[in-house]
This record gives sequence, C-alpha cells and structure tokens, in this order.
Amino acid sequence: MKIAIIGATGEVGRMMITCLEESGVQLSLLDLYASKRSMGTVLYYNDRPLKVQELTIDSLLKHYDYVFFSAGAGVAKTFAPIAVEASEIVIDNSSGFRREELIPLVVPEVNGDLLMGYSGIVANPNCSTIQIMLPLAVLDKLFDLKKLVLSTYQSVSGSGHQGITTLQKQRKGSLDKGIYPQTIDLNVIPQIGAFLDSGYCQEEEKMHFESRKILRKDDLMVSATTVRVPVIYGHSVSIYAEFAGEVDLAEAEKALTNSPDLVYYPNTYVTPLDLGNSDDSHTCRLRLGTDNKSLTFWNVGHNVRIGAATNAVRIFLQHAKYAGKL
Ligand SMILES: NC(=O)c1ccc[n+]([C@@H]2O[C@H](COP(=O)([O-])OP(=O)(O)OC[C@H]3O[C@@H](n4cnc5c(N)ncnc54)[C@H](OP(=O)(O)O)[C@@H]3O)[C@@H](O)[C@H]2O)c1
Repeated sequence: MKIAIIGATGEVGRMMITCLEESGVQLSLLDLYASKRSMGTVLYYNDRPLKVQELTIDSLLKHYDYVFFSAGAGVAKTFAPIAVEASEIVIDNSSGFRREELIPLVVPEVNGDLLMGYSGIVANPNCSTIQIMLPLAVLDKLFDLKKLVLSTYQSVSGSGHQGITTLQKQRKGSLDKGIYPQTIDLNVIPQIGAFLDSGYCQEEEKMHFESRKILRKDDLMVSATTVRVPVIYGHSVSIYAEFAGEVDLAEAEKALTNSPDLVYYPNTYVTPLDLGNSDDSHTCRLRLGTDNKSLTFWNVGHNVRIGAATNAVRIFLQHAKYAGKL
C-alpha cells in the first residue's frame, strides 16, 4: 500500500502517522509532505525516520493508493484535484470540498456505504460534527431525529498547532491574542471562524450543513453555538435532540452501549482530560429533554483523533476493504 500525507507536520498530519501505525496495515511507501518551511524535518513511522518533503505539483503526479490531505482548504483546493488524477482516492480533512454535492462526506460508522466502488475525493467532516454523528445516528434510527440544538466547548488544538502555542504563551503571561479574536486563557470565546450574514459563525454553519448531509436528512433543523475554551485536546458538546417518535431512555441506553466506536456512561460523566488516546465518541448524562420526544446529553471526543485523523484512517480502511485491498 502506497500512501502520502500532505500536511504531515501539523496536529492532524502527525496523528495520522500514529493512526496508520496503530492500524497495523503494511505500507510499502509512506511519503510525507508539508510546506517549504518544514522541508527536511524528520518524522517517524514505526521507528523508521522519514524526511518531510516540500509539496509541489510534481510530487502528486506520482501514484499513491491513498493521499491524505490535512493542510487547509486552500492547499486542498489547489492540489487535491491534481492528486486525484494520479491516485485513486484523496481523503481531505479541510472544509474545501465538504459542500460539493458529488463528494461524499463520510463518517464510516454512519454512511460508510458511500465508499463502496467510489474513487475520487472523499471529504472528512468537521471535528465537532464527527464525534456527535455516532450517537445521533444511533438515536435517529430508533426515534427519527427532527431537531438539534448544540453548544460546543472546543479545544485550542482544533485551530491547529498555533492554537496550542497561543494558549501556552498566554498561560505564561503573554498578552498577545495570537490567532484568536479574544484572549483564550481563563476565558471562553463564542466565535469559531468568521461571522456570516445569518448571524452564525462559520463553524456553526459547518455543523448545520454537515449534520444534514451525513445523516441524509435535508429537513433536519439544527442550531449550533460553537465556543472555544482553554482546553488543549478534546471537544465537548451539549446536545438537545428532538425526535418524531416518543423516546425510550432504556432503549436509547442499550443501543448506545452496543454501538461500535461509542462509549456510553450510564452513571457518571466524562471530561476532555479523561480521553487519553481514545478513538471513541463518549456519551454521558443522557436524560429526557423538554418532553417525551426529546433527549439531552453530553458528548466528548478527541478532536485530533476521532475528529480528524482517526476518522480519515477509518475512511481509508473501509474503502480499502471494499476495494479488496485489505
Ligand atoms: N486540529 C483539528 O482538530 C482538526 C480537526 C478536523 C479537521 N482539521 C483540519 O485539518 C487541517 C489541518 O489542521 P491541523 O490542525 O493539523 O493544522 P496545523 O497544525 O496548523 O498544520 C497544518 C499543516 O499544513 C501544512 N501546510 C500549510 N501550508 C502548506 C502549504 N502551502 N503546502 C503544504 N503544506 C502546508 C503545514 O506544514 P508546515 O509545517 O510546513 O507549516 C502543517 O503540516 C485543516 O484543514 C483543519 O481545518 C483539523
């Protein structure tokens, strides 16, 4: 299996290397690319040193079985269409292609069937959306989801490595706001991405659109408030969900307990610091919402793992299985 990672030096790129190691898949080639800034940086794959190369058009004329992009939407828009000519599948972490109708936006446990026989660009959803799709797809199957009200508590690593360095510098006393519109240390910021005419910010609109696309429910009503908090890794989401049918708490608990890649906590709750290296979506504090057709719960996931690298690698593994490559 020949694989390339674009943006290999970033938070997500480095985690992709780890997730590929953890998958145990034998790779005959792993090429790592980033910008000129990181050319020559040495990263390790299963203790094997690999030098990061500068991404150029020529690098992508080479054939790979899978090319992972995690270098932002601008890089993806320029380079992914080139990569897909020579390679079979491009899995892109950015928002660059998620809204394109013919490009699948995939959480394998929910809509992985879209990968069967597919070749081209596959979009990896937004981090806070991926982790909530797992419990919501389970509950949708049981009770038919109609409406979502979401409030997120998103860690600084969700903004890439510069988010972490911004918080770390402020922790040491710097007054520089870094990449955020307000100080993030000892604070919370109710804005992720630019504000749009709707009054929502970009991250909120991503959660609206992507939830509908992944769950294949065009009429799903969603209202999100996305908030950056001074946590290094791990996004938390408070979820209020309304359904067409009456809910049954015991049935919901049973289904959440028995679903893959989902951990359900009946009697306690989970925080970002509890996540460690978990690749799962963690759900707790499940209770009735405003009536017997609604539920409220808390969900936590490692944004760089399940919210990005793990999901991308799961897309790769499922596609490769369908294609008979594994
Ligand atoms: N962090 C998360 O939780 C998360 C979750 C879901 C999706 N994503 C998405 O994943 C992507 C990467 O995020 P990240 O958190 O890993 O960001 P990051 O830590 O800032 O890393 C960015 C990566 O992109 C590379 N890059 C930047 N400009 C480039 C260029 N012109 N050519 C080639 N490589 C270039 C950087 O290389 P250099 O080292 O050379 O600068 C670095 O490897 C973004 O689209 C982000 O929205 C992130």
